[in-house]
Order: sequence, then C-alpha cells, then structure tokens
Amino acid sequence: MSASLRRIKIEILTVCLFIIEFFTNILRFIGLGRRYYKKDNRIDGKIVLITGANSGIGLEATYQLCKRGAKVVMCCRDLEKGRQAANNVRRRFRTADIDVRQLDLSCLSSIRQFGKTLADHYDRVDILINNAGVMMCPKRTTSSDGYELQFATNHLGHFLLTHHVLPLMINSDDGRIINVSSIHHIRGRIFFDDINFTKKPYDPVEAYCQSKLANVLFTRQLAKQISTVKVYSLNPGTINTNLTRYIRGFKRIIFNIIGFLFNLDVYWGVQTTLFCALEPSLKSGKYYSNCKEDNCLFNESLDDDAAQRLWEISCQMVGIKSDKYLP
Ligand SMILES: NC(=O)c1ccc[n+]([C@@H]2O[C@H](COP(=O)([O-])OP(=O)(O)OC[C@H]3O[C@@H](n4cnc5c(N)ncnc54)[C@H](OP(=O)(O)O)[C@@H]3O)[C@@H](O)[C@H]2O)c1
Repeated sequence: MSASLRRIKIEILTVCLFIIEFFTNILRFIGLGRRYYKKDNRIDGKIVLITGANSGIGLEATYQLCKRGAKVVMCCRDLEKGRQAANNVRRRFRTADIDVRQLDLSCLSSIRQFGKTLADHYDRVDILINNAGVMMCPKRTTSSDGYELQFATNHLGHFLLTHHVLPLMINSDDGRIINVSSIHHIRGRIFFDDINFTKKPYDPVEAYCQSKLANVLFTRQLAKQISTVKVYSLNPGTINTNLTRYIRGFKRIIFNIIGFLFNLDVYWGVQTTLFCALEPSLKSGKYYSNCKEDNCLFNESLDDDAAQRLWEISCQMVGIKSDKYLP
C-alpha cells in the first residue's frame, strides 16, 4: 500500500476510533457497559512487580493488589516520587507490603542494574506488570541509548526488563506477564525500516501507536515461545491520569476538556489489569479490554511475521542474542 493511501486509512481509522471512544465513554460514564473485576480472590504472599507504579493506573494497581495480599515491588524512575506514592498507598491501606525500587525504562543500563539487584533480593516473581508509559512527546526525543523515546520506554525497556525478570518467574506456580497497551495500537504500524524516525518526519501519534502495537506483538510472540509463564496485553480504557503531560497548546486544551467530561477514574482503569492478574485460566498471548478478551478485527497486531521481526530487532537493539532471550 502506498504511503498516502496508508495515511488516509490511518486518518479514517483515527476519526472512527475517536467517535467510537467518545460514545463508548459516554455510555461507560453513565454506567452502561462498564465491567468491573468483582471476584474477591486473593494473592497472599505473591510478589508483584509494577513499572510506573507512582502514578495513575500503576499506583491504583499497587493499592488494589496490596489489598488482595500481594507484596508489590513499585518500580519508579524517581525514587522520591515512588516513596511518596508508597506512603499514599499506606495511608489508604496501613499494612500494605511494598518495596520501592528505582528503574528508568528509557535507559538500558538502568534496567540491567535493576535486574541484577532484583535477583539479589528475590528468588521469585509471580506477576510482572509492564505498565509505565509516555505518550505523544511533542518533539522527537531519544533515550540515553539513542532510540526514539516512546518506543524505548514503552516497548524496548519492558522487553529488556522482562528478559531479566523471567528467570525469577520460572519458580512461580502461576507466573503472569501483563503488558499495558492501548486501544490506539490499532492505528499503529511498526516502521521496520525507520523505527526511530531518523529518515521520515517525526509524528508523536504514530510513534505512540507504534510503541503500543509493539506491546501487543511482543505479547503474542512471547506467549508462543514460553508456556510456563502466561502473557497478556491489555487496554485499560480512557482514564484520567498524568499521561497527557507532554501534550501542548490547543491539543492539550481539547484533551483536558474531553478528559474532564468523559475520561473515567483510575479505579475503573485498573480493572482489566486486575482481571489479567487474578482471573484463572485466561488465554496466553491475547489482548484484553473491559475485563474480557478483545478480538480486534482490522489491525496489524495479528501479524505473526511482524511479531517475529519485532522480536529479532528488539533483541538486537537491547544487545541480546535472540536464542538467549528466554531463561
Ligand atoms: N490513561 C489512559 O487513558 C491510557 C489509555 C491507554 C493506555 N494507557 C497506558 O497505561 C499505562 C499507564 O499510564 P497512566 O495513564 O497511568 O499514565 P501516568 O499517570 O502518566 O503514569 C505513567 C507512569 O510511567 C512512568 N514512566 C514514564 N517514563 C518512565 C521511564 N522512563 N522509566 C520508568 N517509568 C517511567 C511515570 O513515571 P513519572 O511519574 O516519573 O513520570 C508514571 O509513573 C501506560 O502504558 C499508558 O500508555 C493509558
């Protein structure tokens, strides 16, 4: 398909998506079609590692999982913010079992260092929630390793983190990896010939959608390769959080007005994460939304070749031989 045709397809898809999201949000706002994870199953003593745990969905997930008996390792790029967030959780739930650790997902050496110290302190991890994210950085920004920042943080960082955590998950009797994606992965495409936007003009939306599609493709490919640990990707919904912090100018005003009127609260935003963490017998490799499996019909997330290719490229980018990725 030519670039201009593809552009038109993306624009049409974007408009459709916004209209669908807008009306879905209105329905959910008035309580229709909103699903909650109502089961009260507990995970006492399980060790849960959450990235981006100091804010938004990650913070609420920390609280909800602590309440169900988990020990939560809050991974935060700013340790001070992480400690404050942990105190916030302890104020809501006094006996919360929390360990705050520093981790910058946009820096590969920080992730390697984190992996080493984690193995010194824990002999097992039961649930890894790859949740941290940045959205629509206005200018092309690169990570300390020279990769486009949204791809580096949202996908590559989690890809490498998962490699380091996996050996600890083999000892779990119900190991789960949860990759927090977005409905916007539908609009995404992996630009294999220019993942870092060095040749084509940088587009913040395309870069975000690429990174979120990568979350879904990574889930699909990892699930194919490992059966002892289950892997899920999910869309949390459209939720009021700090995610829009990079959006500037008129777009920000629009986002804020729509967000104020229709975005849902983090309590609802964490429900599908809870569903993937707690519900027995979910299918590995699948994408979940609104507390159920979601089969998107028209998108590139079902492309097995793309999933395989992304796997190979990601291994190269983080410096691991692809046959050495799994424990
Ligand atoms: N909110 C929505 O409507 C929505 C919709 C679809 C998908 N999602 C996805 O949900 C996930 C959580 O986002 P949120 O809505 O809860 O947004 P948020 O409140 O902005 O939380 C994002 C978290 O990621 C952390 N983070 C960013 N860059 C990082 C890095 N380099 N290393 C480590 N941590 C980093 C942030 O840390 P700092 O506080 O230090 O910046 C923050 O804790 C994201 O993956 C997002 O794409 C959200």
